[in-house]
Amino acid sequence: MSEKMLYVAKIKDGTVIDHITAGHAMNVAKILGIGERSNGVVTIAMNVPSKHFGKKDMVKIEGRELNPEEVDKIALLAPHASINIIRDYEVIEKKEVKLPKIVTGIIKCTNPACISNSNEPVQPKFYVESEEPLSVKCHYCGYIMEKQDILKQF
Ligand code: CTP
Ligand code: ZN
Repeated sequence: MSEKMLYVAKIKDGTVIDHITAGHAMNVAKILGIGERSNGVVTIAMNVPSKHFGKKDMVKIEGRELNPEEVDKIALLAPHASINIIRDYEVIEKKEVKLPKIVTGIIKCTNPACISNSNEPVQPKFYVESEEPLSVKCHYCGYIMEKQDILKQF
């Protein structure tokens, strides 16, 4: 690292979610249930200067790895995020989140009349029309959902 100082200390074991779209650290924290379901050490950094994106947010969680559903939800809000698994201070795995063209399962349609919200056994399915700003279209009813609609569900 070439910067003269680290904004937040390195962690020993856990997960660093890096390159989060600036302004979204709190949303990522919410997806991960930080503050309610977690009691380990968490550090959140916002608007940190970044080589690639101007500014970025970071969330560092000690003693925890993320499940695939959590990673998919983060991709909706922070399509450039990288997930670093840390063991004994070393980055042992680095993966970029990826927002697929079609999102199934992790979000629901906002349209109450949509068949995916009825008792039919239909799995919600959306086409990603735009990554940033986020916009997804329901496969069943054509309803367009934006970031704010999706954030309410997390
Ligand atoms: N990190 C940490 N604790 C560690 C190791 C790394 O908090 N023990 C953090 C770093 O501060 C950085 C991220 O995890 O934010 C990824 O670490 P690293 O791959 O070493 O940094 P870069 O090379 O800058 O990553 P990239 O190429 O993804 O920008
Ligand atoms: Zn729908």
